[in-house]
Amino acid sequence: MASGPLTAAYIAATILFILSLGGLSHPETARRGNLYGMCGMGLAIIATILSAQVSSYVVLIIMMLAGGAAGTFAAMKVQMTEMPELVAMLHSFVGLAAVLIGYATYIDPSHVFIGAEKTIHEVEIYLGILIGAVTFTGSIIAFGKLRGLIDGKSLLLPARHFLNLGLAIICLWLGALFVGNESMSGGIWMLIFMTLIAFAFGVHMVMAIGGADMPVVVSMLNSYSGWAAAATGFMLSNDLLIVTGALVGSSGAILSYIMCRAMNRNFISVIAGGFGTASGGPAAIYEGEAVPISAVDTAELLREADNIIIIPGYGMAVAHAQNIVSELTTKLRERGKNVRFAIHPVAGRMPGHMNVLLAEARVSYDIVLEMDEINDDFPTCDVAIVIGANDIVNPAAQEEPNSPIAGMPVLEVWKAKSAIVLKRSMATGYAGVDNPLFFRPNTQMLFGDAKTSLEEVFKALS
Ligand code: TAP
Repeated sequence: MASGPLTAAYIAATILFILSLGGLSHPETARRGNLYGMCGMGLAIIATILSAQVSSYVVLIIMMLAGGAAGTFAAMKVQMTEMPELVAMLHSFVGLAAVLIGYATYIDPSHVFIGAEKTIHEVEIYLGILIGAVTFTGSIIAFGKLRGLIDGKSLLLPARHFLNLGLAIICLWLGALFVGNESMSGGIWMLIFMTLIAFAFGVHMVMAIGGADMPVVVSMLNSYSGWAAAATGFMLSNDLLIVTGALVGSSGAILSYIMCRAMNRNFISVIAGGFGTASGGPAAIYEGEAVPISAVDTAELLREADNIIIIPGYGMAVAHAQNIVSELTTKLRERGKNVRFAIHPVAGRMPGHMNVLLAEARVSYDIVLEMDEINDDFPTCDVAIVIGANDIVNPAAQEEPNSPIAGMPVLEVWKAKSAIVLKRSMATGYAGVDNPLFFRPNTQMLFGDAKTSLEEVFKALS
């Protein structure tokens, strides 16, 4: 393909990606947004295949078949609850790709630059490998933490800030030596040394971040993967990759900022690590007895209630309970009840997790409200139903200064006249923090798998 049509195709793909991001910002337009994104990516792939950049079609086809098969297999096999892990894994691939392309570009004999061009080329390579390596190991640790293979608690090495600072200074120093270095064999050793440091930095950075702050890490790694892709675009002189990487990088950065604001955290402090751990004093011990309730009695409470707020959490995703939640909502609304959903910004395991599930179950968007829109309404709520949520409804965040989640805004479920918590046991949530909500006088526990419990409630209501 000549450069004119190629540029036109890349511009069209860029516009489709921007429309896609715009569409994804609201549940009602998300499907369309996804479609734009798919068309944009399809166009980008076809244009690149037809471009003069391809030197071997055999290698390209083998790689595309292998990548396409792996992607199809992963997409077909992945459960909705495993989606965040898949995303973390995909981010790690972007990081690794940036590292490998960086090395390949450096040793490629056809790239001969002199003067300022050589300096720019080397800076691109160095930054691409640096960001890619941090993204690669950081994403692998995030994957381990999300999957529960690695303890969610933060690892706090002594003098960790100095350690990070030391690593950053060594990377800067190596970068200064690398750029302008005349010998390729010397340069490659500097790159290898820097890559190892960046790998260690990625591991340390994510290990230091505690359970409840993982949402910030997930969106931050999303942003890093975008910058790694943009750096790859510079190395390959591919304008579309630069623009796409910048779009992902900046939208991920904005998402990280939004997440931090939602969790009342300072972005720099989260990155530096140490949040998500108790701030010194002893953790509170909650005594008392949790009062169980049966599905029949829950149905009775609902029958008498006028205002009902449903708070979905990660357990709703695990139980695949969204459809029965939707059916129960319809039934209650048919009986004239005011039923609304309260969505915490970090409910579940990925941004928008609950919105996606509720949209899939065809719950009307206008009764699905953000935390800020509904939190003041709990005092006038007759029954609050907490479905597989824990950390996001934990009053310790407001009342316990030593709690690892202290300061995180939570849904004030305990202010409702009655709160019913659906979960299987008294186990803690993702942050590993005990929840005093379960011992409040107006709280009752409906123990069991959320889907089974809700089916019983539905039957009792009928
Ligand atoms: P969690 O605090 O993780 O609580 C989920 C609860 O669901 C658990 O206590 C569990 O209790 C219950 N559960 C699990 N399977 C169930 C089933 N089949 N039926 C009924 N209940 C079930 O979830 P949350 O309240 O949604 O809070 C989210 C947490 O994840 C926050 O700490 C957040 O920081 C973190 N996080 C969020 C994200 C994003 S971006 N959203 C990313 C990473 C981490 P039992 O075991 O007793 O049933």
